[in-house]
Amino acid sequence: MEKLVRLNDLTFRLFKSESEIQSAVRSVAGKINDDYIGKRPLLIPILNGSFMFAADLLKELKLDCELSFVKAVSYDGAHSTGNLATLIGLNQNIEGRHVIIVEDIVDTGHTLSKILPALQEQNPASLKVASLLLKPLALQAELAVDYVGMEIPNEFIVGYGLDYNGLGRNLRDIYQVVPE
Ligand code: IMP
Ligand code: MG
Repeated sequence: MEKLVRLNDLTFRLFKSESEIQSAVRSVAGKINDDYIGKRPLLIPILNGSFMFAADLLKELKLDCELSFVKAVSYDGAHSTGNLATLIGLNQNIEGRHVIIVEDIVDTGHTLSKILPALQEQNPASLKVASLLLKPLALQAELAVDYVGMEIPNEFIVGYGLDYNGLGRNLRDIYQVVPE
């Protein structure tokens, strides 16, 4: 039987299983472990969507690392609003730090293209992006996503931290919207 979930007014079908997600997390962590030996990176996950990825990613990191969550709101329902929010909650000096922004998903790239230049102005030693998911066909900004767990088609998804109008963040798997 196909695994379906109903959230608000939409139906979603299983897209990436928990074990596929975990192996993508381990692959991102493995690269970070290799690239940051001796460096003590500061991971900055962007809330809310990235909380689950950030938690699992940190458990796989074998380095000394620090964590500081921030918030940027730019998404409304199933469509990117294009309304760019600023970063809030960064109460840490990032000058001279090796910063890794942690995202659940890079979709249009608008959020990151707003946030990255603002962070760069604070002179980090390095600034990279780790995203569990990337929709290459949705990307509208010129943006380097340094660590990508999985590339996915341009369709709306939920689960593993990602929501549809507030629901679905608690799902262990990732689900894809079923066209009505
Ligand atoms: P972007 O600015 O379009 O790259 O995406 C910003 C944020 O929108 C992401 O960090 C997610 O939190 C959210 N988002 C993008 N695509 C999806 C999706 O398919 N499902 C749920 N949230 C999404
Ligand atoms: Mg996000």
